[in-house]
Amino acid sequence: MKHHLRKTTLIYGAALLFSGCLSEKKDNLMIGTKSETISEKITQLLSKMTIEEKVGQMNQYNGFWDVTGPAPKGGNAKTKYEHLKKGWVGSMLNVRGTENVREVQRIAVQETRLGIPLIIGFDVIHGYKTLSPIPLAEAASWDLKAIENSARVAATEASAAGINWTFAPMVDISRDARWGRVMEGAGEDPYLGSKVAQARVKGFQGDDLSKPNTIAACAKHFAAYGFSEAGKEYNTVDIGTSTLHNMVLPPFKAAVNADVKTLMNSFNELNGVPVTGSSYLQRDILKGKWNFNGFVVSDWASINELISWGRAKDKKEAAEIAATAGSDMDMEGYVYVEELAKLVKDGVVKEEILDDAVRRILRVKFELGLFDDPFKYCDPANEKENIGNQKHHEAVLDVAKKSIVLLKNEDNLLPLKKEGQKIALIGPLANDKNSPLGSWRLASDDNTAVSVYEGMQKYDKNSLTFEKGIDLVVGDVAFTQPVKINTSLNVSEINKAIQTAKNADVVVMVLGEHGFQSGEARSRTTLDLPGLQQELLEKVYAVNKNIVLVLNNGRPLAIEWAAEHIPTIVEAWQLGSQSGNAIAQVLYGDYNPSGKLPMTFPRNVGQVPIYYNYKNTGRPNQEPHVFWSHYIDSENTPLFPFGHGLSYTTFEYNDFKINGSNFSKNDSIKVSVKVTNTGTYEGKEVVQLYIRDLVASVTRPVRELKGFELINLAPGTSKVVEFTLTKDELGFYNNNGDFIVETGDFEIFIGGSSATTLKETFSIK
Ligand code: BGC
Repeated sequence: MKHHLRKTTLIYGAALLFSGCLSEKKDNLMIGTKSETISEKITQLLSKMTIEEKVGQMNQYNGFWDVTGPAPKGGNAKTKYEHLKKGWVGSMLNVRGTENVREVQRIAVQETRLGIPLIIGFDVIHGYKTLSPIPLAEAASWDLKAIENSARVAATEASAAGINWTFAPMVDISRDARWGRVMEGAGEDPYLGSKVAQARVKGFQGDDLSKPNTIAACAKHFAAYGFSEAGKEYNTVDIGTSTLHNMVLPPFKAAVNADVKTLMNSFNELNGVPVTGSSYLQRDILKGKWNFNGFVVSDWASINELISWGRAKDKKEAAEIAATAGSDMDMEGYVYVEELAKLVKDGVVKEEILDDAVRRILRVKFELGLFDDPFKYCDPANEKENIGNQKHHEAVLDVAKKSIVLLKNEDNLLPLKKEGQKIALIGPLANDKNSPLGSWRLASDDNTAVSVYEGMQKYDKNSLTFEKGIDLVVGDVAFTQPVKINTSLNVSEINKAIQTAKNADVVVMVLGEHGFQSGEARSRTTLDLPGLQQELLEKVYAVNKNIVLVLNNGRPLAIEWAAEHIPTIVEAWQLGSQSGNAIAQVLYGDYNPSGKLPMTFPRNVGQVPIYYNYKNTGRPNQEPHVFWSHYIDSENTPLFPFGHGLSYTTFEYNDFKINGSNFSKNDSIKVSVKVTNTGTYEGKEVVQLYIRDLVASVTRPVRELKGFELINLAPGTSKVVEFTLTKDELGFYNNNGDFIVETGDFEIFIGGSSATTLKETFSIK
């Protein structure tokens, strides 16, 4: 009761404090537009701030519990608390729950001299408590509305828990499945990646950032983190200008165009420059060329890492380099708070640099409406109502089933019959309620996913028998700890599984990776099924070939043996809270699979990096001799190409037309194709358009995705799908980073995957 009273008094105090702000807002509203008003307010506030208070806005501390990076040694809580009270903290991360957020916010607005509210960040990567599929899976839906909606659900729950800033979307393009963080992005393609980035930013930020259920988004990691050498985490990146401008940067630019409020820089160096200290990326490109007016947060202590990289000799120099290069906020690094004020006073760093950073940070706080009501995200009733709400479960189920990709369905084993079929369900992930939650799920509860077994039991309890066969992991798994893979075979368990398989009409096997085998700091050197799973698969296959292999994984896997032998393969990723229900709906045909791969599946790890938009090379063709671009022990082609995904129905493409054959650079080219559902199920198809610029001043890939549309067709019906190509689609970035369109001949491909052969040509004169 006492506690309650204390809080009420404090809230009242805050309201009084902010009534001043409210009337100021009214006055300002009369003198200009909303953005002028905010700029004006920022100028006023800035004029009152000391250097230390300015640096404070650029300082972000981790909360006192969830740790998403190496925790600083010693008890920092006391220092943090003191800094908070002095107004030396502008933001906190990993503080969550209305009560906790209210408390830190209370200190910021009531105990500091200027009462500037905190912005509260959290990794809302694929949901808060109710989890959507991992982002790579969602990208496989190619369904931008569903993806946007999933981010909306995440923002609704996170904002109800006091959070107003998510460190998502990760928009890093990656071609290397060894890199564990591919699970967090939209795959290998800059066009799809840009569309997904925009949909997610829109979902998080909504149409009005000041609403209590919208949160600021953060496009990360700027830039080129996905190109870490050899797929090894936190590694060097060495890429050319063409790859940087045409592959890496477009999704960031798309996010900026969608008004993303913040960007996070990355742990890697790019061509010798650790990007936290890259003026080229942050000042010249982002804040210069792209005119970005939000702010850049460092990654976890990445400013300190300038020292380990060998770019700065100490924290002081690290602070100087990072601030000058345009890293506006220091995440849990203590570098700015310890060094920056002195650097300014000594004239090493210009105060304008601080002013610019603080302006950017304050702008986002104003836009979020935090100055009007710093406790707007701290309503316990709202928290109770929204977190884990049933409607959110329906929304994540919707996107989960749309994310599933049918890789192969040779003997039409799928869909399963709803009765009259004896089904054996086998595999260590078949009844796992934890792993499908995937990585990055700090606010959700362990073991809360619907397992495949639970999902399938809703269809047919009687003829379904489950045996796990083997365990995938040993001991407990945790976000911060390495996963231990089980390598010891339990003969009686495996025999039970084999016996069950023998007696079944169809065997559904759920294999893959544990949810914590992908994600940050989870690079792998092989892409095969971990542990004893391949052995289990082959043993079961020896007694029953009617296998439906359901994969749960956070990255493309090299499953060449399975692709050759197993008739039916379903890529079901890590689908979040409703995983098992989504998978069961697909297996039993209540949802006709419509996903398409956002990343190429290799035959073997040696092919990696492998991607559809490769360059032709000077020796592309198979010759009667060995001197052409290939391996001697593997085909060049992937196991499953980018854009691939089957349906229970079939589609035919006809009447591929272009409205001419010669165009000028500024023309809009109209392309159309008729798609017909030639099978017996209603189904969705992602109609994909690729171009190839045959001769250019900088060589172009053999195919580039430049359009797609998701359509739904009843059996026997058709739809004419139209695309428009303008210079935005026909041009590219040259090696100076300028966007250009060149004359010449183009090929254009349309179909249901990047391997389509349906081709037309046109020229730009
Ligand atoms: C990750 C970021 C994340 C941050 C805060 C870092 O280790 O690279 O993506 O947002 O931690 O949790």
